[in-house]
Amino acid sequence: MLEKIKQTAEYLNARCGQKPTLGIILGTGLGTLVDYIDDKIYIPYKEIPNFPVSTVEGHSGNLIFGNMGGKRVMAMQGRFHYYEGYDMKAVTFPVRVMKAMGVETLFVSNAAGGMNKEFRVGDVMVITDHINLFPENPLRGKNYEELGPRFPAMTEPYSKKLIALADKIAQDENIRIVHGVYVGTPGPTFETPAEYEYFRIIGGDAVGMSTVPEVIVARHADMHVFGISVITDLGGKDITEVPSHEEVQKAALNAQPTVVALMKNMVHRC
Ligand code: HPA
Repeated sequence: MLEKIKQTAEYLNARCGQKPTLGIILGTGLGTLVDYIDDKIYIPYKEIPNFPVSTVEGHSGNLIFGNMGGKRVMAMQGRFHYYEGYDMKAVTFPVRVMKAMGVETLFVSNAAGGMNKEFRVGDVMVITDHINLFPENPLRGKNYEELGPRFPAMTEPYSKKLIALADKIAQDENIRIVHGVYVGTPGPTFETPAEYEYFRIIGGDAVGMSTVPEVIVARHADMHVFGISVITDLGGKDITEVPSHEEVQKAALNAQPTVVALMKNMVHRC
């Protein structure tokens, strides 16, 4: 694995020019944040050695290098989901490569279903913590001390400093944000009413099928993480609307102006 990471990082270094310091993973329907990256270099996943290839509708599958808010960024347009059949090593491989290229801070975004009764479709939730309900931890198996410790602490999965900065930006720019705990599940089924209820009772505010593996690997590598969920549907025992992938994408697109305003300012000021 170490050799693969090195090989991929060297290939990308040769193609991308300057070293990136900030990594961004763009979730479902949030891909247009890339319009705000200048001097872009697009590298399709299929050209990158050792990279898995994304298959899901709505995920374009490019690595994008460029400048945003005075920073060199490396953005993933489309991520690898566990439900697609990738193993956890593949799902988290790009984060390993980011770290190897010098990225110290990771911004992640996703679409999620809201269980918190105060939430509305279109809300932007700053992730304050997560609950890992994937059947496998991405760090299972041999630990490479070069990448991080055997038993990493998860006391501050999402940087408190970056959360405080998001709060400040939301106040300054008059952006409505909410805070919450993200529950990461394998998917690909959306939840039953009882499952949404269960996730709420155990302390979750939103549920989705991504993010947790990448954040675990980023924290293993001691990267600072900031995450947001766009609430694209609501779930619970009194809610009868049926979520669909199309609706999730549409709601994520509608929330785009808020997400872009927050993310642009976060990149600039972090
Ligand atoms: N559940 C799981 N994943 C999701 C949801 C949901 O309701 N909405 C968007 N991604």
